[in-house]
Amino acid sequence: MCNDAPHGEDLVNPAETGPMPAAADDWWRTAVIYQIYPRSFADSNGDGIGDLPGITSHLHELATLGVDAIWLSPFYPSPQRDAGYDVSDYRDVDPLFGTLADADALIARAHELGLRVIADIVPNHSSSEHAWFKEALVAPPGSPARDRYFFRDGKGPDGSEPPNNWTSIFVGPAWTREIRADGTPGQWYLHLFDTTQPDFNWESEEVRSEFDDILRFWLARGIDGFRVDVAHGLIKEEGLPDYTVDRTVDPDGRHTFATTPFMGRDGVHDVWRRWRRVVEEVGADRMLAAEAWVFPLERMAHWVRPDEMHQAFNFPFLETKWEVAAQREIIGESIRAFSAVGAPSTWVLSNHDVVRHASRLALMGENPYGYGLGPKSPGQPDAVLGLRRARAASLMMLALPGSSYVYQGEELGLPEHVHIPDSKRQDPAWFRSGGERYGRDGCRVPLPWKSTAPAYGFSDTGKSWLPQPAEWGTLARDVQAADSTSTLAMYQTALAERAERRLGSGTLRWVDMGDDVLAFDNGTVRVITNMGDEPLPLPGNVIAASESVGATIPKDVTVWVERTVPTA
Ligand code: NOJ
Ligand code: CA
Repeated sequence: MCNDAPHGEDLVNPAETGPMPAAADDWWRTAVIYQIYPRSFADSNGDGIGDLPGITSHLHELATLGVDAIWLSPFYPSPQRDAGYDVSDYRDVDPLFGTLADADALIARAHELGLRVIADIVPNHSSSEHAWFKEALVAPPGSPARDRYFFRDGKGPDGSEPPNNWTSIFVGPAWTREIRADGTPGQWYLHLFDTTQPDFNWESEEVRSEFDDILRFWLARGIDGFRVDVAHGLIKEEGLPDYTVDRTVDPDGRHTFATTPFMGRDGVHDVWRRWRRVVEEVGADRMLAAEAWVFPLERMAHWVRPDEMHQAFNFPFLETKWEVAAQREIIGESIRAFSAVGAPSTWVLSNHDVVRHASRLALMGENPYGYGLGPKSPGQPDAVLGLRRARAASLMMLALPGSSYVYQGEELGLPEHVHIPDSKRQDPAWFRSGGERYGRDGCRVPLPWKSTAPAYGFSDTGKSWLPQPAEWGTLARDVQAADSTSTLAMYQTALAERAERRLGSGTLRWVDMGDDVLAFDNGTVRVITNMGDEPLPLPGNVIAASESVGATIPKDVTVWVERTVPTA
């Protein structure tokens, strides 16, 4: 039963507060931000690895798609042990991806097309190839060069045990012992991720001011903001006490690590206040987005208080099951928690670290964060159901007030590549877990641009750093661009209508259509997602639909219909 409740009455979940209206400077409050994973976007020189000129040559397609900004995963010089999240020089471009001049050209072209550019910045750790870490390795224990990282003596009579029991997020110990020039073992250094990613010591003023300058370097080149990697890390509890994480996910499948001696420490907020001041030196329109895996949302909202960052990725939304009650709860919670500190909620369904939502939403088994999907994973996804739900979820997400993230390839409905041969895998999690975790390669496969070209148009030579699945020809962008029923066409319609109807700065009001239906109003749009077996009568003129609909809305379909009486 549709209950078209007057304002304030009978709301299933009174999440009435939308984000603050966007002033010109506050473009980020409502922006749709497209994540580019440079090594898998487009390869201009045929070496099988995507690069900056490849991105620049395709920016017009993203402008046509209708996004407001792009976020580039790291392109800095790096030994690429963690696909660039191991940075050896924060002020340059890896020759694999191009040159600083290529970065300038990319920024200029994006701005010409009206797209803002957000760079990824990785402050928790550097690469072990960073000049500072190399300097530390040849410096004596207790030296200022070692104080930029965490070097400690080992435990036990001969120092052969790690300084504490912390484990790496990529499995195995979080400490590695240095081997000195004379071949003898020395101190241990901390790395929350791979051995080649030593953690910076953010108690060091030198580290802090170095990063101020790095931000200024990129802001001066025209960068509009930063996506901040591991924004809940950086500060470690004094004394580095032992701590055991028993599970990386809670019983609902959500990420833990929220409060440990190495994550979510209060001291990190001083750093973000400082960064806010640095970005505001250049202009009030520059932004910071936090990758902060802290829960609950009320805590995550601390990262986006008015003098800290601007946005935080809404991972609880991404991790929520495809169920009406769960979706309603998380959406309401998100709007409430972020509004309470004056920030917009963000919405995200996929990124380069998680199983693509066209597979994740139809998984029949448990898949904890970081495990990824491979041929032997339990509960393999159903591809048809996955795509249907992914389209329904995306269309619903794009009608929510706030800012949304789109991960490259989701606009094509790409699924996770489950059948990458073991010999081609690259994720450090795969190696560190001895093959127990497939890791994230399956969501990082190069994009298909042209159905009949070598490597589906990703590179002219047909090279591709990860193999592409045979079925991707039918998902290629050129095929979808010519098909008005494609996933690409759905995204394009949704983004145009979202902009036109200002849904990003709208107000969400729940509509009660029963337990199997997620329904809400935002401005002139009523959004209905049917998750039940019973088809629903279509209540109005269709603006956008995740599948073509007739007189009824079938299961796992979202439609936007015209509201005759817009919400206030
Ligand atoms: C989060 C990034 O998104 C992920 O790809 C990376 O491996 C870790 N941080 C470490 O930098
Ligand atoms: Ca290349």
